[in-house]
Amino acid sequence: MFRCIHGDCQKYKNLLNGEWVAPASKKWDKIVSPSDGSLVGEVPAMSREEADEFLKSAAAAQKGWEAVPVNERAALLHKAADILESEKDVIAEVLMREISRNRKSCVSEVVRTADLIRFTAEEGKRVTGESISSGAFPGFHETKLSIVNRVPVGVVLAIAPFNYPINLAASKITPALVAGNSVLFKPPTQGSVSALYLARVFCEAGIPAGVLNVITGQGRVIGDYLVSHPLVNMVAFTGSSKVGKHIASLVGMKPLLLELGGKDAAIILEDADLVLAAKHIVGGAFSYSGQRCTAVKRILVLDSVADKLIEQILPLVRALTVGRPEDNAEITPLITTEAADFVQELIDDAIQKGAKLLTGNKREGNIIYPTLFDQVTVDMRIAWEEPFGPVLPILRVKSIEEAVKITNDSEYGLQASIFTKSIDEAFRVAARLDVGTIQVNGKTERGPDHFPFVGVKSSGMGTQGIRYSIEAMTRCKAVVLNFN
Ligand code: NAP
Ligand code: G3H
Repeated sequence: MFRCIHGDCQKYKNLLNGEWVAPASKKWDKIVSPSDGSLVGEVPAMSREEADEFLKSAAAAQKGWEAVPVNERAALLHKAADILESEKDVIAEVLMREISRNRKSCVSEVVRTADLIRFTAEEGKRVTGESISSGAFPGFHETKLSIVNRVPVGVVLAIAPFNYPINLAASKITPALVAGNSVLFKPPTQGSVSALYLARVFCEAGIPAGVLNVITGQGRVIGDYLVSHPLVNMVAFTGSSKVGKHIASLVGMKPLLLELGGKDAAIILEDADLVLAAKHIVGGAFSYSGQRCTAVKRILVLDSVADKLIEQILPLVRALTVGRPEDNAEITPLITTEAADFVQELIDDAIQKGAKLLTGNKREGNIIYPTLFDQVTVDMRIAWEEPFGPVLPILRVKSIEEAVKITNDSEYGLQASIFTKSIDEAFRVAARLDVGTIQVNGKTERGPDHFPFVGVKSSGMGTQGIRYSIEAMTRCKAVVLNFN
């Protein structure tokens, strides 16, 4: 059974070779709700020694899975998507309690993930190779034909962050599986219970033993061991830049996909539609209390329109609902006390250095009320650091050049938004920004999930997005025909 069934026991097991297993060490991590302190469940605190079994099993299962025709692999993913969607309310309830995001948004994450899985199943069938003739290269005649196929890389280690433990798990697991890889999934500790529900969905859909294994345990205990393990052929990671850089220093010659932190700017030009900009900025900055990689994390506004923009933004920020995820509040308790302390530190630093507080700077436990600052300057930490919380700084700039410079001076390069009525100006500015994606007249965001998702500098490495992920999780393998 995937969870212990004695009385009110809340212990969830790990998935190893088609069986639900408890830790040999009998050590468990307690997962407590950030919202009300109640116990969500206990998950195995697996040891490094036990991790070997998970990887041996994944490696042993991979070739058999690769031999299954892609249409059958895709059919299994479709089945998983249907089961996931049918269980959306149960899984969303667990997710809501575990990561303290509001119920409506948790249901959306589950439904979005079912759609992602279906799209991935279909896209997997369309990833094909090519044939290349030698005649195109100088000095060669049509004497050789390279037949290039895409083959799986082997065992993919998928590591997801706490903020979207279902979606950002499936966005790694399913492209890997449809391409014929086996997967070892290590969920975020806070998010493990939801992730184990996702694993159960794949089991119910009939995933063969070992093709998907799921191991829980603290990243700081088993993480280094897993990423540098010789049986891991590729690492797909989403999380903080700090951990991502650390992993990059360990993996050696393995393909690596990294989706990391951001400090996305919304750049407001003088001709912008300020009503539209305000709506997008507030939604982009404060949904899930700012705990999104792609949250709008600073506003760079031309001085001449800054007051008018604030007139539009401030009422929207003041109208945000604050409270419990069960009540669908927009601003809910942050994931940990340390996270809330960190956000408070950034707020205090801004106030101490002279930023003008427009609203917020109120705290109740781990709830940080939505906080908006004007007159933020580049010597303040909030201008550069990722708060991962509901605080938004406004930096007034004198020119577009200054906005571009401040955007590019960031260590991060995930996304940026430009608000303007001039499409020419939007493209001119976009060309100068060192980020993965520029949104014109819209908030920074990842979805829809088949778009390419790219971070540059400390924001990541490689390209995710359904087709891009499948390509990243396969490699070219060529057979050359020689016409003698
Ligand atoms: P995190 O602390 O970096 O953790 C991410 C994952 O890494 C967790 O599963 C964690 O496990 C694991 N981990 C920790 N140490 C490890 C190690 N030494 N080796 C291998 N794995 C290790 O990030 P988070 O707090 O969960 O997520 C928030 C961060 O993720 C933010 O910076 C956000 O911007 C970023 N993020 C980026 C994207 C994107 O697509 N660019 C999307 C979402 C979030 P434990 O939970 O057990 O520690
Ligand atoms: O935290 C990162 C998530 O991938 C955000 O996804 O921007 O589509 O809400 P989203």
